[in-house]
Amino acid sequence: MILSLIIAYVLFKILEVVLPPWNFPRNIPTIPFYVSFLSSFGKYDQIDIFNLYLREKLEKYGAVKIYFASRWNILVSRPELLVEIFKNDGVFAKSGNHIKIPGSVLATYTGDNIISSTGSTWLNYRSVLKNSIQFPNLDPLTKNTAKVLNMLPDGEITDTLQRYSLQNIGDCIMGVDFEALENTNMHNQIKYIKRQIFKPFFMNFPSIEKLPIPSRLKAKKEVENFRFWFGQKIKEHTQIGAASELVQALENGVLTNKQFLDNSIITMVAGHENPLLLMQSLLFVLGSDSNLQEKCRSTPKFLDFVIYETLRMYPPLNQIINRCTTRSVQLGGEIQIPQGVYVGYMNLATGRDKNVWKDPDCFKPERWSVIDYTKAKRDAHLPAFHGRKRACLGEKYALFECKTLVHAILGKYNFELLNKIKFTPSGPISPIGMKFKFRKIEEI
Ligand code: HEM
Repeated sequence: MILSLIIAYVLFKILEVVLPPWNFPRNIPTIPFYVSFLSSFGKYDQIDIFNLYLREKLEKYGAVKIYFASRWNILVSRPELLVEIFKNDGVFAKSGNHIKIPGSVLATYTGDNIISSTGSTWLNYRSVLKNSIQFPNLDPLTKNTAKVLNMLPDGEITDTLQRYSLQNIGDCIMGVDFEALENTNMHNQIKYIKRQIFKPFFMNFPSIEKLPIPSRLKAKKEVENFRFWFGQKIKEHTQIGAASELVQALENGVLTNKQFLDNSIITMVAGHENPLLLMQSLLFVLGSDSNLQEKCRSTPKFLDFVIYETLRMYPPLNQIINRCTTRSVQLGGEIQIPQGVYVGYMNLATGRDKNVWKDPDCFKPERWSVIDYTKAKRDAHLPAFHGRKRACLGEKYALFECKTLVHAILGKYNFELLNKIKFTPSGPISPIGMKFKFRKIEEI
């Protein structure tokens, strides 16, 4: 009897993974559950997986059912549906990792923060951080960029760019010197934490991390230690900026200690990891085509077009599933979604949709000479920075930072991508393992 109950329970649990819940909409397709695990096997990157398993269905229906992070979700790509979701944030309410996967290493790291929260909590976090993120001090970029230009080695560059990006977010937005270009201390700590978080098996089944598994308990402890160390660093701020706003809010009781740490961490993480992804993709497209480099040198506006086109084809944040329906709702007048279902968007699918973009797989920066970038964001044709009420606060800063770096590199070097590369298998999109040859322009 007990054995039959156990078998029935196990079968039920397997079915929960294999099939979407009965009350999910029937008029959109289901992506086979195993697609979510393909990234663990290393054969395909996420652009391959998208082309093989998601593209056709998303182009035809604009939305699909997909298994991800221990649950079935609805993933949307059609711009009209996205606008409806983005405008209706009371129904499609933010519900980040701290609610979706509580007890996971990732939720322990980033907690409840300005990106993942909703309602009055979000307004509170926003009142603390908005000004420092939207109006950064851009002066330090000049010296940091000059420094990094001399550090660019002939070889793997991710670590160098990550240190640059970390130094910038500290100097320009947070008002703290992370000394990331001086030494590798903080950079190495963050790399270590990221390795603990992005374990493919636990990314697919994060709810297992709630169990007392020794390796996961250790990872959470290490994350906690880093958060404590980082909180101290924030309290040592020397300039005005997000750190001083956060410390003041903590002292005035506007934020609890946990909220202070959660928001300090997310500002540092979003503020340097996301631009880093874009920097890498930009160097990938430019390093693959010397004519493109030449055009950017001779026509400054062209670099803007290259950046927009890179955001379309290689959106740094691809799949964002962090909204949960607060009531049953009909999306686009026909997709009936029950209450309590996670709904997300897939930037890669929208950017490569042939119903939205002509020749979607061709890298054509020229197309932006007749497309209004702001309108493309508002209409959700290009949701790389979201683009509506919950739009990215750091967009202007990130674009300026990436442009400053690329412009400086183009002024000093001709560079060439030496190897054939793949993109990340899941999560944020960026090329991996790029190797470059940089040649000083006056030496050529
Ligand atoms: C290329 C770089 C970046 C990209 C592609 C990017 C993308 C995004 C996206 C797609 C969202 C919406 C997330 C959602 O729908 O849940 C977002 C929100 C946000 N981003 Fe960025 N981001 C970038 C850089 C930055 C930087 C440098 C900061 C600075 C700290 C930042 C801070 C934020 C904040 C605070 C929000 C939440 C806004 C709100 O909900 O009020 N981002 N970002």
